Amino acid sequence: MKIKNICCIGAGYVGGPTMAVIAEKCPDINITLVDSNPDKISAWNGDLDNLPVYEPGLKEIVKKVRGKNLFFSNEIDKNINNSEMIFIAVNTPTKTKGEGAGMAADLKYVISCAKQIAKSSRSNKIVVEKSTLPVRTAEKIKDILSTHGRKGINFEILSNPEFLAEGTAISDLYKSDRVLIGGDETKTGKIAVNHLISIYEKWIPKSKILTTNVWSSELAKLASNAMLAQRISSINSLSALCELTGAKTEELSKAIGMDKRIGTHFLKPSPGFGGSCFQKDILNLVYLCKFYGLDEVAEYWHQVVKINNYQRTRIANLVDKTLNRQSNKKIGVLGWAFKKNTNDSRESSSIYISLNLISKGYKLYIYDPKVSDKKITTDIKDNEHLIKSKHNLENKFVVCRSIDECIKNSDLILVLTEWEEFAKIKTKKKIIDTRNIVENEVYFKL
Ligand code: NAI
Repeated sequence: MKIKNICCIGAGYVGGPTMAVIAEKCPDINITLVDSNPDKISAWNGDLDNLPVYEPGLKEIVKKVRGKNLFFSNEIDKNINNSEMIFIAVNTPTKTKGEGAGMAADLKYVISCAKQIAKSSRSNKIVVEKSTLPVRTAEKIKDILSTHGRKGINFEILSNPEFLAEGTAISDLYKSDRVLIGGDETKTGKIAVNHLISIYEKWIPKSKILTTNVWSSELAKLASNAMLAQRISSINSLSALCELTGAKTEELSKAIGMDKRIGTHFLKPSPGFGGSCFQKDILNLVYLCKFYGLDEVAEYWHQVVKINNYQRTRIANLVDKTLNRQSNKKIGVLGWAFKKNTNDSRESSSIYISLNLISKGYKLYIYDPKVSDKKITTDIKDNEHLIKSKHNLENKFVVCRSIDECIKNSDLILVLTEWEEFAKIKTKKKIIDTRNIVENEVYFKL
């Protein structure tokens, strides 16, 4: 079997950029991204300045390969059947109901993909788990494929977790630290692994392509995210101590990071980590540990999430204290994305800090250069249940079109995302800078 056609189910933050890069590097393979959301597919086929995912460098690649060997389609069944290799890159959010609610990963989208692959496949397929999944999910997928699939068709399952970070997705994909491929140690398993290696080998040095068994690969992704998030929570917990002792976080981070064994990454204090992955992946790990009866291990990792929530509350309280609890004051919130260079606001600390401030009675003027007005509004409305007091939400926030509009209407400015354009802000009003990015003097920085 030669890989000539790839189908990727899920045209989101991972599927989109990853397939664009594979298409660019492998011009002899046709790649089709499918998604159950037709609006998303239309947007991928539409204006290059309004693609569903904002990532530096992405639109240039899409411009180059779209319509050549990269396609976006609503025809899921047809494209599954036409492809030798199928990536599953659908979302795996935290479960909201049933067993494991609030912690375990919700695999309903992955399971529905597996059923669709089983139903639509009339020839052998290599199925690649790109989504982040709990250990031993491949077993579940295999069960579904063998129960629902046609007789005589062989499905090989590979785990190939994605390590890209939003905001730097394209450079991460171009120069991955490592590509991890987990596969069965059977003859057909090894052949499938080699097919995937031959794709990545087009641009990733062989020494960086790591093959493991499926379970190590699945767990390595959860463990990597847990370790990265742990560093953020560690420095954020120390930022609280700095505030009380007069130690400076910047000096602390530098002093710690210069130790080669520790290194400099992820040691900047912040309003807490956001994004769709860290919290859900750690909770997923916590759930797995509990499932295996490892309560102490579960509690150890759970604390990383708890410190993150503590940091968000701490910042909201700091703003409240700075304004002497005068809730008739207006607050300018600069930044809604969970970090710079992305239009993703999933689990952004801005959401939780803003809702806390609205609960305290403040009115917010919010600005972000890439997150749409509509998204900011739905993020707030979807989380209305977190507002503890009774306030008419409509009067409690305004989404601004510019930094100036945000500053002009506010009594205090709260910088929550490290967008470069926030570095130059100048105002006589008090600024609380939770990213230590503002170059002019500020009232408070973390
Ligand atoms: P996303 O929400 O941006 O994209 C997922 C897409 O899958 C959505 O467009 C959705 O409509 C589609 N979908 C869901 N069920 C479907 C189905 N049955 N058939 C067709 N389409 C379906 O999610 P994102 O951020 O791309 O994440 C995908 C996976 O990758 C998750 O497991 C995540 O943990 C993992 N991941 C995410 C990273 C990130 O930075 N966002 C980084 C590394 C891994």
